[in-house]
Amino acid sequence: MNEYAEIAESLPDPFRILWRARVGSTNDELGILARQGCGEGLTLIAEEQSAGRGRRGAPWLCEPGNGLAFSILLRPKVEKELWYRHSLIAGLAVAEAFDGLGLDGKVKWPNDVLIGGEKVCGILVETGDDHLIIGIGINVNGHSFPAELGATSLELALGERVERAGVLAGVVGRLAVHRGFVRDNFGGIIRRIRMRCALTGREVRMKSGGGEIRGIVRGIGGDGELLLESSGELKRISHADGIRIIKKPSVEEGF
Ligand code: BTN
Repeated sequence: MNEYAEIAESLPDPFRILWRARVGSTNDELGILARQGCGEGLTLIAEEQSAGRGRRGAPWLCEPGNGLAFSILLRPKVEKELWYRHSLIAGLAVAEAFDGLGLDGKVKWPNDVLIGGEKVCGILVETGDDHLIIGIGINVNGHSFPAELGATSLELALGERVERAGVLAGVVGRLAVHRGFVRDNFGGIIRRIRMRCALTGREVRMKSGGGEIRGIVRGIGGDGELLLESSGELKRISHADGIRIIKKPSVEEGF
């Protein structure tokens, strides 16, 4: 019996756990099961991923015993044009799950989750014809991350080890609630995301529409788009990659 068995019974319907010691990528593995007709709610957790993937094809490394890597299968009933909203609710669900640990998770649009300005969770949402897979990687425990990643863990933030099963149960619990608001009352989701937005008021640069764009984030629009003031215009950004917060130079650097 692994550590997740004890929370299996407590997950809301239709969520259920499938645990694997090692897979390539939980998103890929769950994609196979989805195409075989598996019902929604299946949550595949792997202790180890040999080919974990991040956004933009980057590898995602998850330390066995410390990280939490899982993918959730959904078969949304809403129009396909609204499916992108699951990407936003997933980030919100993770950030809110951290409340239970007394940590203030912020959402770095569209769905990275930060603690103290450092990344603690990445999310990769992929869609098939009739299903959607939400892949979530959380640095639960662990002390050392390459400096260039700007990453942290829940353990580092709290100063003590954290039980991965409890984090998983928290995320699934919030996601189970929020997925009911992907079409109706999505405004309530947006209000929650705005309260946790790590980017509002910050100067950023990002890749969008084939080029680099720079500006000040003014907030999140009603459809979940990023509102960016750039070159004197308020732009509505629906897709962007590689968002970087431009740090103001310190006094020393300025001299
Ligand atoms: C990112 O920030 O670039 C997204 C990272 C997503 C990683 C998770 S770990 C579980 C699932 N399986 C994968 O191969 N990727 C996602």
